[in-house]
Amino acid sequence: MIEIRDAGEEDLDWLCRLEEENFSLPWTREQLSHQIGEEGRALLIAESDGVRAGYIGMDSVLDEGCITNVCTAPEYRRRGVGAALIDAAIKRARAWKLSFLTLEVRASNAPARGLYEKKGFKFVGIRPGYYEKPAEDAAIMTFYIRKEEL
Ligand SMILES: CC(C)(COP(=O)(O)OP(=O)(O)OC[C@H]1O[C@@H](n2cnc3c(N)ncnc32)[C@H](O)[C@@H]1OP(=O)(O)O)[C@@H](O)C(=O)NCCC(=O)NCCS
Repeated sequence: MIEIRDAGEEDLDWLCRLEEENFSLPWTREQLSHQIGEEGRALLIAESDGVRAGYIGMDSVLDEGCITNVCTAPEYRRRGVGAALIDAAIKRARAWKLSFLTLEVRASNAPARGLYEKKGFKFVGIRPGYYEKPAEDAAIMTFYIRKEEL
């Protein structure tokens, strides 16, 4: 069973390790720590049968939310963890009364683009040269939260 909870300082070692193993420009411990317990920011952990399996970060300005990072531990992929994390982020966005969520994703990242599309995010454009290591364009994707669902 997948359960979602807010991250705490005790999760930072695990979060740093996942960032370093899965991203060429990993978030630092300090950056991750700033996502925890700050107003307008969230860092959510997915646990599968009580074991950490993935995480998602989000922040917000006014009525706009931004998904900052998403990762599922390799051994838990393709088991619905990413989808559960996106659902949780959308739920949090509704609680914060946001109008939409946006994100950037490497244009070549087919698994992540597939996940976001499956959860209702729409491709809205390209941000040229957004990424380094390696240099790559970002696809911008957006999920609109319908007013009647707020
Ligand atoms: C992208 C990522 C978070 C997906 O996590 P996940 O837990 O495996 O996702 P789920 O099992 O919930 O998959 C949900 C849907 O996403 C899509 N998807 C996931 N992995 C996919 C893959 N390898 N290829 C194509 N589509 C994929 C599918 O539509 C899938 O639905 P399905 O299994 O019914 O076909 C994971 O691959 C990951 O951590 N990648 C490395 C980090 C990363 O790239 N993060 C995104 C940065 S923007």
